[in-house]
Order: sequence, then structure tokens, then C-alpha cells
Amino acid sequence: MAEPQATPEHLGFTGQTPVPSLALVRRLWEDHGMLDNIRRHSEAVAAVALLLCDWLEEAGIYLRRDAVRIGALLHDIAKTPCLGTERRHDLEGQQILTDLGFPEIGYLVGKHVYLGPEAPLDETMVVNYADKRVNHEEVVNLNQRWAYIADRYGRDDPERLTRIEMGRRRSMEMERTIFQALLHLHNPDEIARRYKEKL
Ligand SMILES: [Fe+2]
Repeated sequence: MAEPQATPEHLGFTGQTPVPSLALVRRLWEDHGMLDNIRRHSEAVAAVALLLCDWLEEAGIYLRRDAVRIGALLHDIAKTPCLGTERRHDLEGQQILTDLGFPEIGYLVGKHVYLGPEAPLDETMVVNYADKRVNHEEVVNLNQRWAYIADRYGRDDPERLTRIEMGRRRSMEMERTIFQALLHLHNPDEIARRYKEKL
């Protein structure tokens, strides 16, 4: 596989954008040896992301639900082989999907760790935010999720901790963007309640 490259430009979804099938998702999970706990995490992220799609539709914002669901199921596709290494699972995941002919889903996967401030509210943002609300398989708030990330990946390294703090602030901005678009008919805490009800 070629060295993963960051794609700086935004890639969005239209009605015609190709998205992998669920059968392909299952095959990719197998091919990339995705651990069971990461599969369950991905299912939980997909459930939260689809709940956000429901709410956005109530507010008149229609995203590609299939792209959101499949993107959430694939966001950690490269995580298992990258565990315990310095490899970037976000960029490697992007490369896997781009090589298969799905550059937009690749972009979404490549941006699931960090999405810049210029990014619009779209499928990529919804999956990025949903991932920040799910720790393992549990729905948590942003501060809980980022405390876990700082603890696990910060390694008391000031540079890493600064990057993590940037990510935390950015995810709070995304939360504001999303809930403003929902006209504040819903609030962030409602996600945990609704997620439990559906189980
Ligand atoms: Fe990830």
C-alpha cells in the first residue's frame, strides 16, 4: 500500500456518490482483521450518527444516511493493525477506501480523528462528532471522551496533550454547530438517553 497522504480539500457527498454496500463493509472488517470490540464501537457510532441524521431531517437538513452509516461502520477500518504503533489509522483507512474507488468515504474516514474549523456540517462532521460521543460502546459526553483520549494517548507528552486539547475544543465547536442547526430542539445529553432506549 502506498504511503497515506492527507487530502487537504473537502470531499462532499451528492446523490450519486458511490458508497460501499453493507456486504463490502463486512468483508473489509474480515480482511483487515477488525477486533470485535472495534466492530461493536463502530456499530454504536453508527447508531448515534443515524440518530443525529433523524434530528437533522426534522430541522430540514438531509444528509446521505447510507454514507453516514457506512462511514461510521468503516471509520476505524485500519485501527487494528495500527494499535501499539505510530501509524495513522485515520490516513491508512482513507487510503484503503480511496484505493477501492470510494474517495468520499475515504475522506470521511481520514477526517474522523480531526476535522478542521472550515469544515461544513455534513456526513463527515456527523461521523466525527458521533465518534467523540462513544467511548468503547458507551455513549458519553465530550469531556468524558476527551479525558479518556488524553489518558490513553497523551502519555504526559506536552505536544500530544496540546493536540488533544485542540481536538477537544474543536469537537465542542462542532457540537455547537450541530445543535444550532437542530434549532436547539434537542440537546447533547439527549443522545445518551435515546441510545439506551433503543437497546
Ligand atoms: Fe478512530
